[in-house]
Amino acid sequence: MPTVRPLWRVPGIVVRERLHPSGRVRIPEPMVMDDPVSVDEFHTGGASNPGMRAVYDLCARSLDALLPPGGRLLDLGVGSGRALSAVLRRRPDIHATAVDLAPNMLATARKLFDSEGLADRVDLVQADITALPEKLSAAPWDAISCMWTLHQLPDFDILRGALDQLAAVRRRSGAAVWISDFQRLRDPAACPDMLVCVDPESPDILREDAIASEAAAFTFAELSTELTAAGLVGMHSGHSTPLPYLQAYWLFGAEGKPHAAPGVRRGELRGSARREAALLRWGFTAKPF
Ligand SMILES: C[S@@+](CC[C@H](N)C(=O)[O-])C[C@H]1O[C@@H](n2cnc3c(N)ncnc32)[C@H](O)[C@@H]1O
Repeated sequence: MPTVRPLWRVPGIVVRERLHPSGRVRIPEPMVMDDPVSVDEFHTGGASNPGMRAVYDLCARSLDALLPPGGRLLDLGVGSGRALSAVLRRRPDIHATAVDLAPNMLATARKLFDSEGLADRVDLVQADITALPEKLSAAPWDAISCMWTLHQLPDFDILRGALDQLAAVRRRSGAAVWISDFQRLRDPAACPDMLVCVDPESPDILREDAIASEAAAFTFAELSTELTAAGLVGMHSGHSTPLPYLQAYWLFGAEGKPHAAPGVRRGELRGSARREAALLRWGFTAKPF
């Protein structure tokens, strides 16, 4: 018997969040995510957890809309590869180079891409997204992505380092940009309460990881200010509703909205992941597709 989800509690959580005063203090997480148990739990959750799969689906649809046919993508903070895998599976015509500092994450991503037959379309590089090697920052990218990674950065100086790199790549190559992440809510109880309502069967470690990541995330105001300061001006943005725990920013490439690519693979989600993805998509206030 599946556990009953106490969804009747959701409106109360949303109202409390709206009424809660702003000014919640950020609690940073360790920057590099390399502990084998956390890597494994995150990677397993990325395949089985409907909420995580919904986020990956939103990212894949967005990058599909931003990448031209045959496009080259630079992914910053690839982790165990689940987000990028969703993009590569949707768009069989593209090639990606993906960066992370964590050896266990990179090894897990390598195994994933091998097992999914995607390895010949991805180059994995161990590097710091706040200090990209010249061969990456000067390459001719069509899009740059940074998915669920900025909240890991310990402070504003390091966030600025990452955004400066991203902005420099955009300036040099005219690449499209896709940034998505958690948004720190006002009410510290909102994310834990919501997760218990919408995902009561989630393993504790995965739920605790999500709660810690939301507490470490930058708010809309913080991230928008830093994006503008880095020179990433005029970005489009959207967020999840009814609870704005996810935020996204994007720019089309210098050549404008790309033509639709041939061979796009749609609709791979089934069951609860498909329902979660549809809800996330419909609730998201704006998106590039
Ligand atoms: C929460 S994971 C997200 C992974 C993936 N994008 C996804 O959505 O599944 C964030 C990743 O960013 C990596 N990371 C954090 N700071 C980094 C840095 N300065 N340089 C490179 N990778 C970094 C972490 O090691 C971790 O693997």
